[in-house]
Amino acid sequence: MGDPSEYQRRTIRSRDHHFRGSLGRFATGVAIVTFEGTTRHGITVNSFTSVSMEPPLVLASIARTARSHDELANRPFTVNILGAEQQSLAMHFAGRPQAHEPLWIEGQVAPRLANVLAFFECTPWAAYDGGDHTLYLGEVVDFSYRSGDALAFANSRFTTIPESQLGVEDLL
Ligand SMILES: Cc1cc2nc3c(=O)[nH]c(=O)nc-3n(C[C@H](O)[C@H](O)[C@H](O)COP(=O)(O)O)c2cc1C
Repeated sequence: MGDPSEYQRRTIRSRDHHFRGSLGRFATGVAIVTFEGTTRHGITVNSFTSVSMEPPLVLASIARTARSHDELANRPFTVNILGAEQQSLAMHFAGRPQAHEPLWIEGQVAPRLANVLAFFECTPWAAYDGGDHTLYLGEVVDFSYRSGDALAFANSRFTTIPESQLGVEDLL
């Protein structure tokens, strides 16, 4: 098979656009995966998912093209869940460095960020092929949360989930 024609390329672009748009209708929180690689590093993700209660497992899906991708393999990491006022932190770790270097905390197994809404420190559990991404599962060894509104992401935009709409843990 030769190179795709201009028509085929346009069809693929339009399908990708529609696929992203459809995925964007699923509202998520926003998190930063931090770890100690060759340097202390972080990557903004909205692919965070809780996986298992026993053992306690969580996952993040990391693009193969991200610098973090290879560095994260077999490394402990922290998932930092962002509060509503932390949009600039999300941008900082999404390739738009902000003027101020974030405040770091030395965690038990991996570095984490100060003042986040919640955090999960993890040791590496497994990594699964996810097409052009890899699903990194971690076993949670330390975690906590504070009160406050959550930063959310929907339709390619940041938004806020008020704390009053959260806090139904007792019902689950
Ligand atoms: C709201 C938001 C969510 C994102 N979610 C993901 C994600 O789940 N997985 C991923 O690989 N990249 C995601 N990205 C893109 C990465 O944060 C971005 O490509 C980053 O610059 C990669 O950093 P690195 O190359 O230093 O690892 C997201 C970006 C934003 C703004």
